[in-house]
Amino acid sequence: MEQFVIKGGKPLTGSVEIGGAKNAALAIIAAAIMTDEDVVIENLPNVNDVNVMLGAIEDIGAKVERKDKHTVKVNGATIGSLSVDYDYIKKIRASYYLLGALLGKYKKAEVALPGGCAIGARPIDLHLKGFRALGATVDTKYGLVSAEAERLIGNDIYMDKVSVGATINIMMAAALAEGKTIIENAAKEPHVVDVANFLNSMGANIRGAGTDVIRVVGVEKLHGTEYSVIPDQIEAGTFMCAAAATHGNILIKNVIPKHLEATSAKLIDAGCIIEEYDDSVRVIATNVELQHTAVTTLPYPGFPTDMQPQMTVVLGLAHGTSTVTESIFENRFKYVDELSRMGGHIQVESNIAIITGVDKYTGARVSAPDLRAGAALVVAGLSADEGVTVVDDIHYILRGYEDFDGKLRALGANIELVNSEREVQKFILQVS
Ligand code: EPZ
Repeated sequence: MEQFVIKGGKPLTGSVEIGGAKNAALAIIAAAIMTDEDVVIENLPNVNDVNVMLGAIEDIGAKVERKDKHTVKVNGATIGSLSVDYDYIKKIRASYYLLGALLGKYKKAEVALPGGCAIGARPIDLHLKGFRALGATVDTKYGLVSAEAERLIGNDIYMDKVSVGATINIMMAAALAEGKTIIENAAKEPHVVDVANFLNSMGANIRGAGTDVIRVVGVEKLHGTEYSVIPDQIEAGTFMCAAAATHGNILIKNVIPKHLEATSAKLIDAGCIIEEYDDSVRVIATNVELQHTAVTTLPYPGFPTDMQPQMTVVLGLAHGTSTVTESIFENRFKYVDELSRMGGHIQVESNIAIITGVDKYTGARVSAPDLRAGAALVVAGLSADEGVTVVDDIHYILRGYEDFDGKLRALGANIELVNSEREVQKFILQVS
């Protein structure tokens, strides 16, 4: 089983190139099958979740041709099945984007019902409410969601809760519905905007993405396109936190600084210096004594829940008492016990982590409970100057970070991806 081994304590310095946004890419791959013409997607991150999603569309008959590590050509003309296998939904929940994509294009789709996951129950009632509002009959039984409609007709849909997934799924189906759909209380995340831009580049008519109200005027058909995925704000934010936690100085390149504002603001509160350029940000934390602050996760433009564990790791090293309130998912503090094993002082009361800053973490053997928490534990390990950190279950991290260890090594980190206890021991011997 793969693990990361880390000997921390070195300030990270240099520059890092950020890849395409995983969560935008997953929806864009699903949407790419909505035309029978060729679609070329560039700046795809080469991460496991993206590869699983490409496997899912291939499995229902789409042609997928890898042009290079970050570019793929998709053709949805040969789709022969409207039913997505449970294996895919088990591996990535985002396979549910194929419901919206297939329903829009073929007016029929069947996908296994995703269960809860490590970070919460994660129902999909809002997705289904949206499909029903467009005139589809939606059934959930035998562990499957099936949606079918003779005609999809545009409608006004109010989202009871801001949901990235439901906004995107409904937007996809509505793109090929008849007439006008208005999605109110829509999610405003950068990847919602990216998927809307992608669909528009295929001939869809979607306005208002990035605001609370998205207006979709259905079109009869979508056409081929070439599109480049936006940079990953969470990968970027993770490196920003790595700079802060290791008292380093990192230039984070190929980003949209506006998408990083919530993370930047909290790192500034914590005492870091942030320099913004056109498509990069520099985080300077050398000789900075980190200070406490309060963070609450919220839908965009609020502080992203996907940055919550990484920021908690930073605040765990800050002077004074910080609070981190998780308002999106009910079970996103599982990593706190692992961080305590590294010397962190954090108490979780309901959905609030109360963090008493410590001078430093110490290396320990820890397990990644999910993707972002796993990345956060790596950041903690990078800052720990005593002992070695071994992070287990890194398959979660590999779902969403491309060449995480390679990028960190280029910044001066001592981290290796190993495959056996023997390699762990060899690393420990080398660094001690
Ligand atoms: C997306 O999940 C991301 N995943 C998540 O990233 C991210 O944490 C989340 O948005 C919030 O930003 C992908 O894009 C593939 P939501 P999603 O629907 O769309 C509730 C990562 O680490 N809700 O915005 O599933 C839900 O339970 C992952 O990359 C309903 O109640 O999130 C949550 O409390 C983890 N009913 C809230 O809404 C629904 O029908 C927001 O969830 C849908 C959601």
